[in-house]
Amino acid sequence: MDVQEVLHMVGGEGETSYAVNSIFQVSLSLSLSLSLSLSLSLCSFVCLCIADLGCSSGPNTLLVITEIINAIESARSRLGNPSLEYQVALNDLPGNDFNTIFKSLPALYEKFKKEKGDQFGPCFISGLPGSFLGRLFPSKSQHFVHSSYSVHWLSQVPLEPEDNKGHIYLAKTSSASVYKAYLEQFQKDFSVFLRSRYEELVPGGHMVLTILGRKSVEDEFNRDFCSLLELLANSLNDLVSEGVIEEGKVDSFNMPIYTPCPEEVKKMIHKEGLFELEKLEVFDVNWDPNDDEEEEFKLFDNFSSAKNGVRCVRSVTESLLSHHFGDAIMDKLFQRYTKIVADHLSKENAREKSKYVSLLISMKRK
Ligand SMILES: C[S@@+](CC[C@H](N)C(=O)[O-])C[C@H]1O[C@@H](n2cnc3c(N)ncnc32)[C@H](O)[C@@H]1O
Repeated sequence: MDVQEVLHMVGGEGETSYAVNSIFQVSLSLSLSLSLSLSLSLCSFVCLCIADLGCSSGPNTLLVITEIINAIESARSRLGNPSLEYQVALNDLPGNDFNTIFKSLPALYEKFKKEKGDQFGPCFISGLPGSFLGRLFPSKSQHFVHSSYSVHWLSQVPLEPEDNKGHIYLAKTSSASVYKAYLEQFQKDFSVFLRSRYEELVPGGHMVLTILGRKSVEDEFNRDFCSLLELLANSLNDLVSEGVIEEGKVDSFNMPIYTPCPEEVKKMIHKEGLFELEKLEVFDVNWDPNDDEEEEFKLFDNFSSAKNGVRCVRSVTESLLSHHFGDAIMDKLFQRYTKIVADHLSKENAREKSKYVSLLISMKRK
């Protein structure tokens, strides 16, 4: 499977689309707080070049850009600096639904004009199809690069079809060589990513990444994220025992994702020596994106929570799954998955453990 050709979030604005189901990322994108010193350092240019890599299409795409521009504008007015122009590139793989983004740009420009007045901008936003695992921009042309929930995607699955039988990602019973293969693929891809951004950022330019990760080296099977994908593997295996799909099909499917721990990320940044690591924070969010309440205020029963969490996974993984297993079984697969996740959530303490771990990484180009 050529990941970069097949992977895309579910487009449009329908029930299973990424646009409708990316609330989980929205709450996190909002946590992207550009520090005061970072905003101040960016607001003194004549034309500020910003890139959002792996922007997808949906509310988050424009929300991230709006947040970044708001932070820089408030630093600018605090300093009394003259207005600056913005050149914003929204990047994703060519299969991304860029049309939905483009259609929402006039409303965004209108909003900027209304909220910020005639002194603002101008702001030029464009789409840039291509892989961030390689060069996207001319040398030293970018001042600020942002990316959320994208850089944990790998360029390819690093396994042979029979290496991880019955699983679709790292599982408790996967062999150590499976973990090693995933780690090495992440190291290769992240190295290409860092080198490409180093070429493109101006010296002193900034990069902020949010990625799925795990808490420690020891937790190599990243209990929570792995168990969510292991439950998806269980759903596929159920369909194997019912004769709906062939066993070999499950054996030969693995997710092209790696969730690194802080140590693995730090080691790579240090080894490449191209960026100064300014901040690395770890935080977590519920599988159910709508449920951000404390235990005693839980809003949703287990089945509703499972439905919310599964819709989010579907909007992200469906392109890969349907390419491999066929479109026809998708509804059946995700119905089974919802049931299995609901059963899992009803186990004692399962809800407290059902979290995604995220890493927020802030770097400065040397
Ligand atoms: C889960 S979405 C995140 C979207 C958005 N940034 C957010 O926070 O909601 C991940 C995006 O990364 C994109 N992506 C994955 N690998 C990529 C690559 N090598 N180059 C460009 N985009 C990539 C996917 O196509 C997808 O749209």
